[in-house]
Amino acid sequence: MSTVTIIGQGYVGLPLAQAAVHAGWQVYGLDVTQTLVDALNSGTSHVDDLSDEDIRSMLDKGYRATTDPAAISESDVVVVCVPTPLAESGGPDLTAVRQASSTISANLKSGSTVILESTTYPGTTEDVVVPLVESQNDLKAGSDFAMAFSPERINPGDQNYGIKNTPKLVGGLTDHCTQSAVRFYSSFVDEVVPLSGPKEAETAKLLENTFRHVNIALVNEMAKFCHEMGIDIWEVIRGAGTKPFGFMPFTPGPGVGGHCIPIDPNYLAYQVKSELGYPFRFVELAQEINNSMPEYVVDRVARLLNDQERSVKGSKILLLGVTYKPDIADQRESPAVPVAELLLGRGARVSFHDPHVTTWRLENQDLTVVPDLGVALDEADVVVLLQAHRSYDLQGIHSRAKVFFDTRGKSEGIKL
Ligand SMILES: NC(=O)c1ccc[n+]([C@@H]2O[C@H](COP(=O)([O-])OP(=O)(O)OC[C@H]3O[C@@H](n4cnc5c(N)ncnc54)[C@H](O)[C@@H]3O)[C@@H](O)[C@H]2O)c1
Repeated sequence: MSTVTIIGQGYVGLPLAQAAVHAGWQVYGLDVTQTLVDALNSGTSHVDDLSDEDIRSMLDKGYRATTDPAAISESDVVVVCVPTPLAESGGPDLTAVRQASSTISANLKSGSTVILESTTYPGTTEDVVVPLVESQNDLKAGSDFAMAFSPERINPGDQNYGIKNTPKLVGGLTDHCTQSAVRFYSSFVDEVVPLSGPKEAETAKLLENTFRHVNIALVNEMAKFCHEMGIDIWEVIRGAGTKPFGFMPFTPGPGVGGHCIPIDPNYLAYQVKSELGYPFRFVELAQEINNSMPEYVVDRVARLLNDQERSVKGSKILLLGVTYKPDIADQRESPAVPVAELLLGRGARVSFHDPHVTTWRLENQDLTVVPDLGVALDEADVVVLLQAHRSYDLQGIHSRAKVFFDTRGKSEGIKL
């Protein structure tokens, strides 16, 4: 049996570990967080898409979480899935990638394949990871060990696309490196697509996220002026979406959230600016428009209150759904936070409900979920749907709320 160590057991690394262990690999999940490792080894999941039962079944197949880097010295493949948050400078903070690369260097055996999956700017694999992995041993990338980049495409909460049926891109340092990484992924992914090198694979990931970012900004900007012009943007998108070629529908909303869409395009913009000296204008514009959406939502709430001869100050506003995506608990970069902060800043009495969140952390305070959704709906002056979780009865909410403002366009309420 071949062995793989997956470094970082979060939203990306844990589902990968699950896929590999069920494909017959001996899997070590290496992480720096001891409490997380202990929880995983006792059969407890911390990721939405994996249940405790999934973890137990992984353990039955031989999966082990560990903080001991010695696992790397037993491994034929080492995959890096550590976080790459946004640094103060605007580029990715590569601290965890650097740490993981040094850990690999001190433990790597000859003939292994090292793969970076963390999202980052083009050139990271060759310019940052390779020198660090080579630094504490006599091994050379491309000859003594294989090195590749393979971007993660996980979509938490997605019921249709998972690791198996989402094509996987792979760009190795050499053809041999690419082939080694392709062999690993082919054991559990239906379609693995080789690219000519790590930079192409790194940039493909950033193109995917920038494409989404820009198109969301396009419909967000259109939503604003269509509202002013009395045109239903949702019907416009539905109409345009009937074209079977050359169009892909995106929908407006209260802003973009999560780790990827609001952050990753910055990596590319940062690199273009620092290396070439000019801006990546699409990214900057998309950022500006998408960042303006929470303010726009609050402005629309103020107008709805105005229609009732009320002010924002003192009004009861109930926010429904505060996660950045439907049907998951992940709150990272959720636009619900600036919406709440802006409303609180104007003196509104803000409460929230979310089936996946009990305590919601804002800048200077924590809010606790309303104990009874029905009572909260009766009491609120305006109910704002920010995230349309599947479990919400939108028809029932619409008929019970005094004013129902639906920023997701999913109901008969007043739409964005
Ligand atoms: N979450 C997503 O939907 C998603 C999708 C595509 C790509 N990505 C990318 O994948 C990467 C990982 O993201 P994530 O969402 O899984 O992050 P995460 O925060 O859920 O998990 C990262 C894990 O890495 C561990 N870690 C940090 N430094 C470490 C180190 N030096 N050694 C070992 N473990 C370490 C942390 O303890 C944590 O458990 C990021 O670059 C992200 O941009 C994420």
